[in-house]
Amino acid sequence: MSKKEQTVGGAALDWGKLVFGTRVDTHCYIKHVWKDGAWDEGEMVEEPYVKMHVLANVFHYGQAIFEGQKVFHCKDGKVRIFNDKMNHIRMSRGAERMGMPTMSLEMFQSALTRVTLANLDFVPPYGSGASLYLRPFMVGSGPQLGLGASSEFTFIVVVAPVGPYYGSAVPAIVVEDYDRAAPNGVGQVKCAGNYAADIVPAARAKKQGFPVCLYLDAKEHRYVEEFSTSNFVAITKSGVYLTPDSVSVLDSVTNASLEKLAVDMGLKVERRKIDFDAEVDSFKEVGAVGTGVVITVIESITRDSKVYKFEQSEVLQNMYNKLRAIQTGDEADVHGWMRDI
Ligand code: COI
Repeated sequence: MSKKEQTVGGAALDWGKLVFGTRVDTHCYIKHVWKDGAWDEGEMVEEPYVKMHVLANVFHYGQAIFEGQKVFHCKDGKVRIFNDKMNHIRMSRGAERMGMPTMSLEMFQSALTRVTLANLDFVPPYGSGASLYLRPFMVGSGPQLGLGASSEFTFIVVVAPVGPYYGSAVPAIVVEDYDRAAPNGVGQVKCAGNYAADIVPAARAKKQGFPVCLYLDAKEHRYVEEFSTSNFVAITKSGVYLTPDSVSVLDSVTNASLEKLAVDMGLKVERRKIDFDAEVDSFKEVGAVGTGVVITVIESITRDSKVYKFEQSEVLQNMYNKLRAIQTGDEADVHGWMRDI
């Protein structure tokens, strides 16, 4: 680790006012390039731009996958990252599906560590409620006019201090006239196109007063799949942690972690098809879960002219508190999710 790659000191930010998306210029990002079958050693880039060939595959054919992780200043003064081994597994699967190269866990974790150390003063203090969001992403950066895999790939990790995504409980609406992902498509992959598909429906929903869209399966519009930004979870009236089983939903690290916490808390966990109309009345609480949104309580779901209302706290609130306590070191990390930076 060179001296230049370690930063301490204090970024003068009002941590309590941060939301997810507050524009903050950090010191640098880390960039690795894959060419001729191998990744390079990586370099720190101090300007917030990327220079790329105008025919880079990502601009035309969309070879682009990304991740999202959070880094916390913990109670004992240490800085730790949450569950990055699982992000590496997901990114590797996504890379294979999208015809992109994989990287070792060592390289992935080293990039996250290096970029965090270089931006250490942007890790929000313990107790602020904020965190440092890491956004690793990989794109096809080689010139590619004919359709096919890129000859070169660029892997970048950029950082941003963040606060809450939605803030408080929000109403959601079922999208009827658009789909997020095709049955045998790439819905489970964290690829850029899955999120682009939500931009127009989400903008329309926002105008109607719904910050979040809920997508049903593309074939029958019957089974629950995914929210705009995150996975769907319901706590049923009989106390089950229920989440959809579908190849078209994102393989969420937060949801997988919460399933473990649910078991710890004595809840039954079911991952199966969820028939929206037949089952919605059995939901006591509903949450949108993901790295950015953590657990955002969904206060209601509107489908056509019907509005289904849910309770807003208790189980999901307890799960949120438990997850945050583990992330900030207030509670023991019994599952071994946290890695020291
Ligand atoms: C995340 O939650 O980390 C994501 O990547 C979702 C994004 C829409 C913020």
